[in-house]
Amino acid sequence: MPAAGRGERLGAGIPKQYLPLLGRPMLEWSLAPFLADAACRGVVVVAAAGDIHWSALRARLPRPVREAVGGATRADSVASGLAALRAARAGDDDWVLVHDAARPCVTAAEIDALRAAVGADPRAAGGLLALPLADTLKRGDAAHGALRSAGTLSRESLWRALTPQMFRLGALQRALEAAARDGRSPTDEAQALEWQGLAPRLVAGEATNLKVTTQADVTLAEAILAARGAVAARPAAVSGVRP
Ligand code: CTP
Ligand code: MG
Repeated sequence: MPAAGRGERLGAGIPKQYLPLLGRPMLEWSLAPFLADAACRGVVVVAAAGDIHWSALRARLPRPVREAVGGATRADSVASGLAALRAARAGDDDWVLVHDAARPCVTAAEIDALRAAVGADPRAAGGLLALPLADTLKRGDAAHGALRSAGTLSRESLWRALTPQMFRLGALQRALEAAARDGRSPTDEAQALEWQGLAPRLVAGEATNLKVTTQADVTLAEAILAARGAVAARPAAVSGVRP
């Protein structure tokens, strides 16, 4: 789990992965379904050098978690996490799921769907959760003083990439190393594999699996998590009521 970003677009004063959502740090929500997943044999959190929040959170987690030190870009941080898995004797053919610390609303059902789809397609170069675009896309043009819509792009066959993204450890490490050698920094893991001519599988995720980037996203993420709590609590709340 890459968690070494600074959350500059959010500008909260602390890195966004530590912002409280319903009283728990975002990173704890993001980790929870993986820590509860018996098929996840090990978890690595990649924290920034000098992160003052991580060790206290780590001590509270329900199972041991490895740590790695993040780098300048997300790809560098992921590479650092993969090296930690190697050091823990993970092998070339082991599956790795990379998940943004900034996506606290991911569900166990999404993780299961990704694992099932990628696992069922042995020829696939891994895969990722993604969502088909729903909005009409405009190209902005500020050439004449005001920002105007200068055209409409086709959204046909366009998807938003989410996480987790799932690859064999060896294939993902080779792809990230090749990108680094070429001086390119992929914005997600799938892009590094695409640069190698591979085509990771797209697996439908949920719109609720948003990446928290702005303050509005913090509000949305809290509402999503709160709604789940309300649903879980409802049967107990009405248990005394006869139909
Ligand atoms: N990330 C990381 N190492 C970096 C940059 C980002 O591990 N050098 C992680 C973030 O912690 C986050 C995920 O990658 O979990 C997605 O990145 P993003 O949403 O861009 O987070 P930040 O880089 O923290 O935010 P911003 O770009 O607004 O500064
Ligand atoms: Mg960033």
